[in-house]
Amino acid sequence: MLRFPLVPVKGVPLMNLIANVFDSISAFRPDPSDILVATYPKAGTTWTQEILDLLLHNGNAEACKRAPTPVRSPFLEIVPPPPIPSGLELLEKTDPPRIIKTHLPVQLVPAGFWEEKCKVIYCARNAKDNLVSYYFFDLMNQTQPEPGPFDGYIHKFMQGKLAWGSWYDHVKDYWAAREKKNILFIFYEDMKENPRREVERIMRYLNMSLSDEVINRIVDLTSFKNMKENPMSNYSCVPMPVFDETISPFMRKGEVGDWRNHFTPEQAAMFDKDYEKKMKNSGIPFRPML
Ligand code: A3P
Repeated sequence: MLRFPLVPVKGVPLMNLIANVFDSISAFRPDPSDILVATYPKAGTTWTQEILDLLLHNGNAEACKRAPTPVRSPFLEIVPPPPIPSGLELLEKTDPPRIIKTHLPVQLVPAGFWEEKCKVIYCARNAKDNLVSYYFFDLMNQTQPEPGPFDGYIHKFMQGKLAWGSWYDHVKDYWAAREKKNILFIFYEDMKENPRREVERIMRYLNMSLSDEVINRIVDLTSFKNMKENPMSNYSCVPMPVFDETISPFMRKGEVGDWRNHFTPEQAAMFDKDYEKKMKNSGIPFRPML
């Protein structure tokens, strides 16, 4: 059984394999041209990575395919079972500018990213959909801790006991740091509502200017349907038994409001009451979870 236990690193539960190499992760020196995509797991990481990769390659999907990694971009802290190389190994083999993905909370991001003034994009997703997506991911990803029954999973999420810690602290701490650290903060729900607007926002943040034709192509290539069919983004290159897609596909539904299909009204009411307490002074413009 591959499922790795969680151990606390500076108070944040991380998989033990990651905790073991945490000092090397902290010492990682990025290039100033590297771009960091930071998220709580299942908030829209792969979607944001895909958009960035296409932006850097002028909307040319074939050029993206020549990138050296089997999946979209190196995952800074991951130490998967062989033969999949670790994030740090992949980074060494990849030339800047690299799109680097992390789920680390802001206080655990290697200081080099701030010192080199790298561009950092944080994508946030509403808590209940994020939880449901994480639940199905924990069922299918055989390296994640067992999710257990859904009701207990809701409580683990609320208590910050899942890998990468508390969703509430994660989003609040990145939000609080965004101005000082020049982080672009985007929302999954905004990307669903108007993907073109959000692609343009990311493009402006990167000080790029691409033609309407290229932007339209990027929007099309990064639709849920196209990404689900694209082996560079649907994780079909990740060998079994890490991802067991017979349990749940990586590109699962890609919808806003799917939580309604999984939470009972009682669970939703209990979750919302706790959410209100934890988030009421955050100032983060999440949409209401209707
Ligand atoms: P669901 O499980 O709700 O379907 P991450 O990349 O952070 O792991 O997030 C994965 C979630 O983002 C999954 O959510 C996945 O389906 C969704 N997703 C990925 N690409 C998407 C896209 N182009 N449009 C909408 N949702 C997308």
